[in-house]
Amino acid sequence: MANTAELTVDGKSYSFPTLEGTEHEKAFDISNLRDQTGYVTLDRGYKNTGATKSAITFLDGEQGILQYRGYAIEDLAAKASFLEVAYLLIYGELPTKDQYSQFETSIRRHTLVNEDMRKIFDGFPVKAHPMGVLASLVSAMSAFYSDLEGAEGDKTDLHIIRLLAKLPTIATWSYKRSQGHPINYPKNSLDYIPNFLNMMFSLPVEDYKIDPVVVEALNVLLILHADHEQNCSTSTVRLVGSSQANIYSSISAGISALWGPLHGGANQEVIEMLEDIKADGGDVAKYVDMAKNAKTTGFRLFGFGHRVYKNFDPRAKIIKKAADDVLSKLGINDPVLEIAKGLEEAALHDDYFVSRKLYPNVDFYSGIIYRALGIPTNMFTVMFAIGRLPGWIAQWKEMREQKEPIGRPRQIYTGPTLREFVSLENR
Ligand code: ACO
Repeated sequence: MANTAELTVDGKSYSFPTLEGTEHEKAFDISNLRDQTGYVTLDRGYKNTGATKSAITFLDGEQGILQYRGYAIEDLAAKASFLEVAYLLIYGELPTKDQYSQFETSIRRHTLVNEDMRKIFDGFPVKAHPMGVLASLVSAMSAFYSDLEGAEGDKTDLHIIRLLAKLPTIATWSYKRSQGHPINYPKNSLDYIPNFLNMMFSLPVEDYKIDPVVVEALNVLLILHADHEQNCSTSTVRLVGSSQANIYSSISAGISALWGPLHGGANQEVIEMLEDIKADGGDVAKYVDMAKNAKTTGFRLFGFGHRVYKNFDPRAKIIKKAADDVLSKLGINDPVLEIAKGLEEAALHDDYFVSRKLYPNVDFYSGIIYRALGIPTNMFTVMFAIGRLPGWIAQWKEMREQKEPIGRPRQIYTGPTLREFVSLENR
């Protein structure tokens, strides 16, 4: 492979170094483009822009490959626990037994949230969307744990533990209040996922029995969501963090980015769409037609299409199988699962979707599992956020350790050129 790229602009030639990643993806290094040529690049939506070098997650959208730190997503989903994967993403290697036990114990001991945070929470309307509440409360954590603000090294590790430990606790508050039920405190005797389930579903009036089928299903879902390289929310976390904003503010910004329906918010949209199709008589073909005419109908098939995957989303494959397994193990017959399968089948054989390489993404079947586990629709994106947290943390940490410069894109200005100011009385 040539190690320079030649560019001719205004009759002059310039050369730029090329580089290749460990999995052979290639790039032109244009860091000096503007200095040398006076030009910048225009790449709306960053479809061709590598914003960083990263050693965390590799994905190949053409072949449908996803790996965390070199481990195949299929292996991790089948064999690892969510906290092992969190450790792998954040610290680069699978933990030894001692490292795991230390990491897990620290998280277990930090699940309690400052009681004054509850006063902020109590100020939110009961009907507030849990994602807005989550983003606000994570941002508020920077005020409660400000003793460590801007700290590096060991203290960063403490922030990391606090975030991993407290996010599930805060997440359950919104659900409890929406039900008119008292909030549950975490229990140090419980593992990470059982603790979350207990805070979500146990009531003072009766014991909650933790079902291992539910724990296993959530473990897989959280692992599948744990990182996805430079997606919208992760890029947001890195961009905010590049100004040296603290980790809580950076993660809070990532939660806000995730909430959007074109990103993590799609899991809520999918189930609402499937419900609409069911209520409308289950006519899948009608909705496929509407999606094909997206330009006039404004309707997209949520859970379909991906910026990077142009073959299939490997996470969707695992989730589809998990949806079948979980529903059958729990003895649930959910008609929207059949509608989802019908929709997938119809779309995969339709030239509109085939030619645009639109396949089901991670969000297409995840909502069906969440629903089977008793998690309400408006909490789906919160579940995604709990899963994505280790990835955001790992990317924030890497960005800091690589001492990346502040993120600051350029633009092509298209507004008015210099004009004379006319005072108010003359306008
Ligand atoms: N339904 C119908 N048509 C679609 C869909 C869809 N879900 N997705 C893309 N298209 C069409 C577009 O209209 C466009 O058609 P055209 O070439 O005739 O103009 C073409 O496919 C390319 O689509 P873009 O929007 O340009 O692709 P982009 O890479 O920018 O968008 C995205 C990717 C945002 C995921 C898009 O596919 C989408 O909106 N999907 C639905 C929302 C969704 O499921 N988001 C979750 C993604 S996974 C995640 O973030 C966790």
